[in-house]
Amino acid sequence: MILQSKCGLHFDRHEFDWSKEDILESVDSSLSRLKTDYLDVLLLHRPDLLFEPEQVAEAFDRLAASGKVRHFGVSNVTPGQLMLLKKFVKQPLVINQLQFSLDQTQLIDTGLYLNNLTTERSCDRDNGLVDYCRLNDITIQAWSPLQFGMFKGCFVDHPDFPELNLALGEIGEKYAVSKTAVAIAWILRHPAHMQAIAGTMNPDHLKDICAASKVDLTHREWYRLYLASGKFLP
Ligand SMILES: NC(=O)c1ccc[n+]([C@@H]2O[C@H](COP(=O)([O-])OP(=O)(O)OC[C@H]3O[C@@H](n4cnc5c(N)ncnc54)[C@H](OP(=O)(O)O)[C@@H]3O)[C@@H](O)[C@H]2O)c1
Repeated sequence: MILQSKCGLHFDRHEFDWSKEDILESVDSSLSRLKTDYLDVLLLHRPDLLFEPEQVAEAFDRLAASGKVRHFGVSNVTPGQLMLLKKFVKQPLVINQLQFSLDQTQLIDTGLYLNNLTTERSCDRDNGLVDYCRLNDITIQAWSPLQFGMFKGCFVDHPDFPELNLALGEIGEKYAVSKTAVAIAWILRHPAHMQAIAGTMNPDHLKDICAASKVDLTHREWYRLYLASGKFLP
């Protein structure tokens, strides 16, 4: 089992906080809630606009030295912010958790549409984050891997996605897995070797998701699903 937690997000205070004190306090409280001595991975959640990389570095040094955290990473962080962090933080940043699903493909769309003025998908919203992560050995973890919009619901078996569900079903039949497994396999097929973070609380859904690891989609199947989710070839 790998225990991963995050810090920096404070909905109650309406702010993000990457200060040294807040990082240290958050880890202690995670450890106490989980009744454990260490986290395998700690991620800094969405960036604190006032973050000072020196403070993050001090906190990470303390957490690494005390053995409370074994590996470090980030979530929703741009290449520029990563470079700034890496200038001060000694430990490797091994993960960047980012929104990515068959419906929410903005992470990769720019790579295909680039300077195409006919679609918003050409807009570079993250300064080449996928390529930056690949070049720097940072594993992308896809959050909301089955959701459409911003937490609007699961697209699997949703009536608003007939073409996508037809493709998921047909490909699922070939591999003898569920549509859910194919949707996750689509994420795992990307050569960045992404991971998918499942949010389900349902054991049967979790089994479906795990079956994705048995599926290695072909190049053509991957494109079929991308196009069936509403994209076009430029
Ligand atoms: N870093 C960030 O900014 C960020 C943002 C959002 C989330 N996250 C992380 O990512 C995790 C996953 O996000 P998420 O919960 O939005 O992801 P998700 O796995 O795409 O969605 C899970 C939701 O879909 C439902 N669902 C409906 N049909 C399903 C099916 N066939 N298979 C599986 N699930 C189905 C689940 O309900 P059931 O429980 O009934 O299956 C659950 O409510 C979160 O737990 C969180 O740790 C990170």
